[in-house]
Amino acid sequence: MKNINKTVLSGVQPTGGLHIGNYLGAIKNFVSMQTEYECFFCVVDLHAITVKQDPKLLKNNTYEVVATYLASGIDPVKSVIFNQSNVSSHSELAWIFNCITRMGWLNRMTQFKDKAGKDKENASSGLFIYPNLMAADILLYKATHVPVGDDQKQHLELTRDIAQKFNREYECDGFFPIPEPIIDKNISRIMSLKNGELKMSKSDPSDYSRISLIDSADQIEKKIKKAKTADTTMPDNNEDVSKLLEVNNLLNIFSGFSGIEKVELIEKYKGQNFSNFKNNLTEVIIEHIKPISKEIEKLMGDKSYLNQIISSGAEKASEKANVTIKEVYDIIGLVRNEA
Ligand code: TRP
Repeated sequence: MKNINKTVLSGVQPTGGLHIGNYLGAIKNFVSMQTEYECFFCVVDLHAITVKQDPKLLKNNTYEVVATYLASGIDPVKSVIFNQSNVSSHSELAWIFNCITRMGWLNRMTQFKDKAGKDKENASSGLFIYPNLMAADILLYKATHVPVGDDQKQHLELTRDIAQKFNREYECDGFFPIPEPIIDKNISRIMSLKNGELKMSKSDPSDYSRISLIDSADQIEKKIKKAKTADTTMPDNNEDVSKLLEVNNLLNIFSGFSGIEKVELIEKYKGQNFSNFKNNLTEVIIEHIKPISKEIEKLMGDKSYLNQIISSGAEKASEKANVTIKEVYDIIGLVRNEA
């Protein structure tokens, strides 16, 4: 039985090239939450357009995230899968939060600084207020739990600040719940295969830095073969392992896919060079990724089914979102024409 006081919302951007970092850090956890929580899984296309997108690719990538959700085991009967732009109250609540959030809060957001780079003057204003839209995604469904990668922690803290300020300023204590992040320390940050200090990212110029969810078995094998390890053998304890960033990352990937605890893996491979470990890791990744990539491919060939999912998801999401936005309008004194 689901506990209706526990609501999960999370989102993935349709910017293409989903990789095992996105899968292990986010999507895999979504699947296990479906039985316990009321779940909303969103494709955040309005977040994607805070930086320039090619319209055709954006559409294709949106379908691809929906297909990936389904292929990874998110059940559209148990959970609501929907596309953010299809539920207009996300934008409406985001505007209201634009008027709640202080400039100073947004100025502290490290993701904006990273994404805007040196040319801040030329970044879109949407990129700056991006976290307000994310807060709207979450609070529109009064979500209590938000599974995110650890790079989104700061945005979630901002969401909590917004919820608190709104509840306090409008004297509606408890109206918005204060959402909790769900972050798995070990696997929420899957790093580049070439440099253990960088996050695995689709924007890394080297394809060898990441494993995409639609890579072939051959590509996976090559990439793991080339992945950086260390000049030593596998250490015999976690402390020494954590100093070898790339080895630590491969162990996290192994553990994430196989469910075997890291300490057990260290015990098994300690003192060995990395070739046996890498062979086994390759097998584990292929075994888990293959069925998913096959299913993604199949679903991408059936747009009418994907459209059906998107349309029924929008309907279900709107039901809940419309209630919240109506309450919010009333609380802040916006008159809604109900005639
Ligand atoms: N900002 C998140 C990311 O880039 C995506 C996102 C948008 C999200 N809205 C959300 C995540 C709401 C969790 C909840 O990964």
